[in-house]
Amino acid sequence: MINRYTQFPLLGHNTFGMDVQAAQFIEFDCEDDVFELVREGIDAHHIVIGGGSNLLFLSDYTGTVLHSRIMDIEVVEENNDSVLLRVGSGVTWDDLVAYSVDNGWQGLENLSAIPGEVGASAVQNVGAYGVEAGDLIECVEAVSVIDASKRCFSKKECRYSYRSSIFKHEERGKNIITYITFRLNKTSKFVLTYGNLKEIAVGLGELSAKNIRAAVMQIRASKLPDTKEFGSAGSFFMNPVVSYEKADALAQSFPEMPMYKTVTGVKLSAAWLIERCGWKERRVGNVGVYKYQPLVLVNYGGATGKEVYDFSAMVCQSVKEKFGVELVREVIVVE
Ligand code: EPU
Repeated sequence: MINRYTQFPLLGHNTFGMDVQAAQFIEFDCEDDVFELVREGIDAHHIVIGGGSNLLFLSDYTGTVLHSRIMDIEVVEENNDSVLLRVGSGVTWDDLVAYSVDNGWQGLENLSAIPGEVGASAVQNVGAYGVEAGDLIECVEAVSVIDASKRCFSKKECRYSYRSSIFKHEERGKNIITYITFRLNKTSKFVLTYGNLKEIAVGLGELSAKNIRAAVMQIRASKLPDTKEFGSAGSFFMNPVVSYEKADALAQSFPEMPMYKTVTGVKLSAAWLIERCGWKERRVGNVGVYKYQPLVLVNYGGATGKEVYDFSAMVCQSVKEKFGVELVREVIVVE
């Protein structure tokens, strides 16, 4: 069924708590609905939202906001080692993680308690504690808004990298994602390399997906704000990746700076850079840097999108001045 609304309030659809509205809001709950919408013609000025947990609305949205309510989860293949799970784009991400852990399937436990929906995870390759959604995605099904064709993107075609995919670049705005298929393990292949995750999980008993999920939830609760308390979009900035030369120069001037070598360059900690610029716990009006995790910006109540944006620009500028490093927003700014 397709539900259409006009002048629709988005307060319940963005975790930053922006009190804005969409000129049109459309929800669909199956793939046939998507074909119908696309054949009718989709507003060129449209966005698809998931849980609205990675968006910053600067003002009322004058176009169409689309939201998936495709909620089915189905096992499409199973063998002794793994299971292929086809999941509707409207399923709440953490419901999927809980469901897979409850069934004894492994792989998603490190990604526990991330806000948002399954469709968005395939676009932005959500990641935490050493695992990224793209590691487990087998394929992404979508309907093209250009020619209403059904498209299936293989893992390779999705081109996953740190917080990025083809859906943020060449395919941006061209598809409506309907289903994502994940390959989950039935044997133990836990990723426990990040920080003190292993220690905390072991402290909870045997090493299991259930205990890793509990450990991750504990760590996240201690570092990240509860969006029911303060508006926020999780990490506002990405961890910047700089060239090896730039990293060497920075290490000379700031030997204590955390650095993580990757294949494309050296990843720095945005939290550390922001903290070193003196922003930790700072607040201007209704916007501030979260006290336990400086790469998270919070709306203390009543902030406008513009206030949050202007605040983030000040943070970027001071990091640029002190370290010569460009911070890139992870949050998508919607005008
Ligand atoms: N740090 C500080 N000060 C702080 C907190 C952290 O300097 O107050 C530094 C430390 O050097 C620490 C490092 O930041 O070692 C890493 O901190 P953390 O483990 O919190 O991870 P992060 O790199 O800051 C990323 C993701 C988070 C994800 C965590 C855990 C991005 C943009 N963010 O943060 O994702 O939960 O790793 O894997 O990559 C999100 O996207 O919304 C999100 C919360």
